[in-house]
Amino acid sequence: MDRTKWPAIAGFAVGTYLLSRDVPTTFAFEKPIHTSIVVLASLAAATLGLSRILPKSSGSHEDYHAIPLEDCGTLRSSRDSSPALENVRYPSSLRKLRILFLGLVAAICLRVVILRELLAFYQCTTTSWEALIPLAFACADYSARQPLPFRKRAVTDDPDMSIHEALGKALARSPYRYLGSTALLSFGSIVVLSTLKAPRSSHICAASLPYHWMIPCLQRIGSILDAAMLYCIGQLLRQREGRGPRSIALRFTSVGWAFLFSAVVVSFGGLVYYYVTPDDRLWILTIPTLYFRGVLRMNALFCFTAVSALFTLYHTSSMSISAIAAFVSVCTTSTAYAWTLTHPFPPTSTAIAFIATCVTLIGFALYVHADAASTKEDPSDSHRLFSKPPYWLYLILFVLLCLHGGLLATRSTSVTYHPIDLLTFEAETQHESYFNRSSASLTLREAAEAYRLRYSRHPPPGFQHWYNYATARNSVIIDTYDSVQRDILPFYSLNPEVIRQRTWQLLANPWNDVAGISIRNGSVSLSTDVVGTHRWMFDGLVEMIDHFAEYLPDMDLAFNLNDECRVAVPFEELDRIRPSVATPSNSDTDYNKFSADRTQQWPPIPTEPLAETPLEELSWQRTFYEFGSVSCPPSSPARTQRLWDVSQMCMDCTLPQSLGAYLANWTMAADICHQPDLANLHGLYMSPAAFKAAHDLYPIFSQSKAPGFNDILYPSPWNYMDKVKYNPSPEHPDMLFAEKHSTLFWRGATSEGVSSVGQWRGMTRQRFIHLANNINGSEAPQLLLLPQGATSVIHRWQTQPSEVNTSAYSYVPISDLTKLLSTDVHIVDSIARCWPKDCSQQAQEYAPLAPPTDFQDHWKYKYLLDLDGAGFSGRFLPFLQSRSLPFKVALFREWWDDRVTPWQHFVPLDIRGHGFWATLSYFAGVNGTVKGRHVVMEPHAHEAERIAEQGRAWANRVLRKEDMEIYFFRLLLEWGRLTDDARDSIGYTDDLV
Ligand SMILES: *[C@@H]1O[C@H](CO)[C@@H](O)[C@H](O)[C@H]1NC(C)=O
Ligand SMILES: *[C@@H]1O[C@H](CO)[C@@H](O)[C@H](O)[C@H]1NC(C)=O
Repeated sequence: MDRTKWPAIAGFAVGTYLLSRDVPTTFAFEKPIHTSIVVLASLAAATLGLSRILPKSSGSHEDYHAIPLEDCGTLRSSRDSSPALENVRYPSSLRKLRILFLGLVAAICLRVVILRELLAFYQCTTTSWEALIPLAFACADYSARQPLPFRKRAVTDDPDMSIHEALGKALARSPYRYLGSTALLSFGSIVVLSTLKAPRSSHICAASLPYHWMIPCLQRIGSILDAAMLYCIGQLLRQREGRGPRSIALRFTSVGWAFLFSAVVVSFGGLVYYYVTPDDRLWILTIPTLYFRGVLRMNALFCFTAVSALFTLYHTSSMSISAIAAFVSVCTTSTAYAWTLTHPFPPTSTAIAFIATCVTLIGFALYVHADAASTKEDPSDSHRLFSKPPYWLYLILFVLLCLHGGLLATRSTSVTYHPIDLLTFEAETQHESYFNRSSASLTLREAAEAYRLRYSRHPPPGFQHWYNYATARNSVIIDTYDSVQRDILPFYSLNPEVIRQRTWQLLANPWNDVAGISIRNGSVSLSTDVVGTHRWMFDGLVEMIDHFAEYLPDMDLAFNLNDECRVAVPFEELDRIRPSVATPSNSDTDYNKFSADRTQQWPPIPTEPLAETPLEELSWQRTFYEFGSVSCPPSSPARTQRLWDVSQMCMDCTLPQSLGAYLANWTMAADICHQPDLANLHGLYMSPAAFKAAHDLYPIFSQSKAPGFNDILYPSPWNYMDKVKYNPSPEHPDMLFAEKHSTLFWRGATSEGVSSVGQWRGMTRQRFIHLANNINGSEAPQLLLLPQGATSVIHRWQTQPSEVNTSAYSYVPISDLTKLLSTDVHIVDSIARCWPKDCSQQAQEYAPLAPPTDFQDHWKYKYLLDLDGAGFSGRFLPFLQSRSLPFKVALFREWWDDRVTPWQHFVPLDIRGHGFWATLSYFAGVNGTVKGRHVVMEPHAHEAERIAEQGRAWANRVLRKEDMEIYFFRLLLEWGRLTDDARDSIGYTDDLV
């Protein structure tokens, strides 16, 4: 059996490494009970299967050795003569085995239940105690061990021994031999894990609800159960049975039965739950496809690790195995994190992290040493990790130490410029270059030429009318309509016939929540019935299109009546059609006219509604994996990872678009493929109020869309119809920026999605309200970029020292922040879109709600927050037009996204909210006590006013109603060509005019 020792230990270490790497992103935790049953059953099968091939008789060297609990001085004498004792009956031993067996089953079942609870409220968890398990075993060992008589020690003391040997001897005999090393290992690990950790996420752990204190308790109980399980398994594997040493096969069998028994008990519990909760039945039965792969992988990994662990445990002790597990997992997590830590953000005390790493490594080395030393003390004992610590172990520890030292030492901890200064500077160049590109053409001929260069096609027929329309209304933007192109390009893969058919399919069934506009002979009308609540939308559409309908060909258009977007084509399909849309098949153009026979081509909408629908409904359900991320490459994190740990911010998800705590790249932020954490951060992805969507390319015009959706964007009639309007009056004046209150203001409803099973805890609006207020003191400290005072920094290339103001990120409690900076961010009136329990929970958490205010009250405040709802933001354009500075948090993108530049016209915020206070503090300034230190940060009022004024001026140039018409006109001309049977041979060429 000794042959299995080394493969087992190596396998266990590798398995632990793989598990610590893979578990944070596994899909298997989607359904913890199902997963547990599968894993327990497979484990049972593996263990029982193994026990059939393992030797049935016990080898001579496998004699009795209890775990250290009984491995104490008083028992030693009896063990030394154990062969003689083999025939002695231990009636109590069999009973003990039974108790251990039942204890193990109970611990496993309880652990599964606790795991499920923890996963449901993971945002409330605190630093785990798992790393304390080795210490717990060492304590048990210590308390069970009675100090050896002093006399014995004096006898063995040999004056010829070298110091090293003497130390080793002393260590081996010391009752503290494990206590000290595991204490170093455990506490070092805990400090490493809590230092090298991403900032807490903004997921809400409501202090008004019991899970706030219950979850940390359950976490503790979970750790205790883990130790208990390890103890029970260790005992079962090593306990001597009544008739003497049990064969290894028998030992494995008993553990295997325990797993099987637990699987049965958990399944039975699951069945009972299924019958008593009719509401959850559907949920219990729906198994997402991605889950299968996750569970298979996790199952294989877990079984491999667990079987290696059983062998390791058989050969060594519970303490050793917990020490290896703690050491390997802490090293994996902390090294991975230290690897990504290059920027001063997030703040990490590198010195503490490094010292703690050293302590952990030393603790582990000492443990191995103590363990080996006790072998020397007692050569009959084969249950040790090493009989002599190998040199390669020290080499590994040394390499790890150097790696950590290097990573932490090369990390910069302070910033010498403010990221926002850089961002606003870059934004200016970016905007200027966009402006230059957009308005380069001065004549129709130039505009047509620019079009051909940009989009590799001739402009659509009627382009000259569009050009005249646009220039007559002083449109600044003539050349850059990339968003139009992006939206319609995929549709070139469909025949015009198919597009018409699909439009008809959408309009023929009112269930689809799509309504139609038809254009015939240059006049526009509604083609389907529209209910009263959406009447404004179609009034706006008709009014907008009416301005240029005379130039449009006959066609039907399908408009989305919901806020949520509707069409998400999988990446594989997009990839397939990409070649067919990239270049036009024929660029020789004959006519600057649409085909003449278009009218009959559009099938009439039946008066009797169609029964079938091409759409799939996912209202009130998760949509991220089914729709949200399907447009991402199959290997991208959004499709392969499920970040169930919502307590921490996902650093890999934010860093690509961030500069420190600030959102730097708005375009990148709209790429969800590297942001799997969004699945739990927005109502659209967690539980949209209405979600009827297609995976095929159906032509639906929407007012906004989330990244990766294929809806066609058009200017929102909400703004066109002035449903909310920038309309200052003498009672509600829009004063100069300097005269406004220096407050960040938001009022709104919880309308982002429907919260029925606690989804509100992740929704953007709810999270930001939490972030902005000190609600029950439950929010984690937030980041500020605080000045470190003027420091002399000598750059290598400078001969003279220069005065540089350095700053560093630092965590500040929200209670301090709300005193230093003024916010007024509240829910109005009542909690909307929730299901009973969630309504009262939110009402309790956010009480008192704010009374309704006049929209024109907004202009009293310097900073206006704009938070995503279920779809497009109705108020962002009025905010831009005002003299106040808008802060925008958005998942959705609208038609104007290309023309407005973040940091030039508005202030963007990351949807995770980690830059919220830091950004506000840059503009509003700080003057007060922060963590016991008086801090003065000059406000950047001038910059704030500049961005507000630039936004206002730009909105008045490119976001006017005329601009909406011009955008829509161009979009519909393109759409007209796209739906024309002769689309490859018609188009605008200069000679044809
Ligand atoms: C935009 O055009 C102006 C005037 O032609 C020029 O001075 C400026 O450098 C251009 N800006 C960019 C970013 O191309
Ligand atoms: C933002 O990211 C996009 C896409 O990844 C990139 O093309 C663009 O250059 C970036 N913009 C800035 C200002 O860095």
